[in-house]
Parts: sequence; C-alpha cells; structure tokens
Amino acid sequence: MRPAAVVLLGFGRVGRAFTRVLLDTRSRLRERYGLQLKLRAILTSRGGLLAEDILSQPRLGEASREDVPALSGWRPGLGLDDVLDKVERGVLVECLSSDLGTGEPALGFIRRALARGWHVAAASKGPLAAAGKNLMESARRAGVFFRFSGATGAALPAADVGIRSLAGSQVIGLEGILNGTTNFILTRMQEGIPFEQALAEAQRRGIAESDPGRDVEGLDTAVKLLILSNVVLEADFKLSDVKVEGITRLSPAQVAQAAREGKKIKLLGRLETKEGVQALSVAPAVLEPGHPLFQVDGVEKGITFFTDTMGPVTLIGGRSDPRGAAAALLKDIIGMYGRLT
Ligand SMILES: NC(=O)c1ccc[n+]([C@@H]2O[C@H](COP(=O)([O-])OP(=O)(O)OC[C@H]3O[C@@H](n4cnc5c(N)ncnc54)[C@H](OP(=O)(O)O)[C@@H]3O)[C@@H](O)[C@H]2O)c1
Repeated sequence: MRPAAVVLLGFGRVGRAFTRVLLDTRSRLRERYGLQLKLRAILTSRGGLLAEDILSQPRLGEASREDVPALSGWRPGLGLDDVLDKVERGVLVECLSSDLGTGEPALGFIRRALARGWHVAAASKGPLAAAGKNLMESARRAGVFFRFSGATGAALPAADVGIRSLAGSQVIGLEGILNGTTNFILTRMQEGIPFEQALAEAQRRGIAESDPGRDVEGLDTAVKLLILSNVVLEADFKLSDVKVEGITRLSPAQVAQAAREGKKIKLLGRLETKEGVQALSVAPAVLEPGHPLFQVDGVEKGITFFTDTMGPVTLIGGRSDPRGAAAALLKDIIGMYGRLT
C-alpha cells in the first residue's frame, strides 16, 4: 500500500466536493490502485485544520465552509508554509479562486509547494493563464508532478488526451465547446427561449455563476483554450493573443434561422494553423449536422484535436460541476501515485 499525504488548499465548492470524493472512494483507491490518501491539512483564508487523518472525522462529509473551524485540529491563521514544514511531502490540491491576470493568490502557493518538492494538482485557471509554462518548467526542475485537469475542462479529460494520449503526434489545431453555461444557454435559445430567460434558468439551476460575465463574454472559453493550446503545443500564448467574441450579441433571429436550417450555433474555442502561423479565437459558429461537436448540447462540453498522424480525435462529456472538478483532481493524483495497470 502506498500512503500519500494530501494538503487541500481551499474549502469552497470544489474543495468540499474533493473531500466528499475522497471519502466515497477510499476503499476503491486502496483496492484498485494500492493507494492510501491521507488528508493531512485543509487550509482556508481564515486558518486551517492540521491532523493525522482528517478523513476519519465524522462530520467532515457534511461540513460547510463555515463549519471548518468547529472541526478537530482547527488552528486560526494556519498557513501553507507552516503545513509544508510539518507534513511529510505529498501533494498539494489547489482549489482557490484566482485572478486570471496575475494568477494570485494561487500562483504564489503553487510556486512555494513545487519549490519544496511537493506535487501539485490545480483546479484554478489563473496560475496557468498567467504562468503555465514557467510552472511546468519549475515542476520538471524539482522532479515533481504539476497536473491541472481540474482547470482545463475538469471531468472532460482534454489535457490528458492532448498531452499523453496524442504523444508523438503533432496537434495542428483544436476546436472545443469548453463552457457548459454558454452551451446550455445556446441550447435553450435553439429551443426558442430568449437569451435573458435562458441565462436566468442557468443561474436558477446553479449552472451559471451569479456573475456570468466571464462565461457569456467568452472569457472562460478563451482561458481554457489558451491553457490547452500552451500545454499541448508547449507554447507560451498570452490571453491577449486570443481573439474573443462571446454570445451576448447573438440575436434570437440568428439562432432561429440556424435551427430552421437544421444547424446549431455553438461557442467554439479554436486553435488554427494557417501558413505556419497559429491563431487562437473564440466566437459563435454555425455547425452542420455532420460536425463532430454537433450533438454536444446542454451543459456538456466537447473537444476535437486535429493531428498529423492520428487524424481528428474527439472527446465529448464530462460533468461541469464541483464534483466533476473534484474527480478530475483525484484522477490527477492517481496518475502521480497509483498503480494504473
Ligand atoms: N465550481 C466549479 O464547478 C469549478 C469547476 C472547475 C474548476 N473550478 C475552479 O476551482 C477553483 C475553486 O472554485 P470554488 O467554486 O470551490 O471556489 P470558492 O467556493 O470561492 O472557494 C474558494 C476557497 O478558497 C479559500 N481561499 C481564498 N483565498 C485564500 C487564501 N489566500 N488562502 C487560503 N485559502 C483561501 C476560501 O477560503 P474561505 O472559506 O475562508 O473563504 C475558500 O475556501 C476556482 O478557481 C474555479 O474556477 C471550479
């Protein structure tokens, strides 16, 4: 049995879902992968828990963000540096909200963990958008893993396929429906529901954030496209390199016209290579029924990689919610430690 220490940074929606996934999968991890994950610390902005085996606490599964200080082992003001010094080296699971421009506060934490020989599984996009290439180089230098499935499509294993399953091929382009909220809105508009009503429904059902600007303006898709393109091509594009148009300027008439013609409008993130020059863009596109992403409706996501030797490879699915993101973080940890065959 291989024990591995886990430090969880952030106990919001994704952090809590991650602890529940750990609780639900403990015996499967031992039996199937020979892996015993020991949750040694949970850190929030107010302090954290530090204990030998946090997963054995009876109230952990139901604990809300506000309940953490009442759990055993709570220390006000506990920070990452205290924990990295006290706990045997393992994996930092980063679940913070971070700024897309600076990558903070997550970027600094990730840098410190990598420099001290910790593996990192990241859920937030900011650090990757701001300094993805640099973080990957730091991890290589330190001889540790830096994985980020939770930040790049989460339960849709886009990064894994792009990096590992297509290894040896050259990716010459990609096309993705990478944002569940906009895809849900466009699907409802296709059914005749106006934009505002579809957005309100997405918010009511917990699909869209209370501030959905990043989604509907195409920024979330742009960041995911940027991260995937950089890791798959080992490139260093910046967010300012992505030409972005969201779905707010689409008229109901345009969507209805596409529907009458048996077509669909989708928000596509695209990496294209034209005359040796790579270009990144996000914009609504009209898809014909034969398009590989035509059937991707509702909150589903999908991506097609275009390669020189394996042809087009398409992935569809992946839960667009905190549990899907948590499962992607766990998948990354299993990839670091587990017996996969
Ligand atoms: N929600 C999804 O479905 C989804 C899917 C994929 C990826 N993601 C990404 O996952 C990340 C986490 O999302 P979320 O929805 O779980 O966020 P969230 O609910 O806002 O939770 C953020 C957590 O980070 C903690 N935190 C903030 N600043 C901190 C600091 N300086 N030191 C220590 N802890 C700090 C907060 O502490 P307090 O509890 O003290 O406030 C809170 O526990 C985001 O970057 C998001 O984009 C989310």
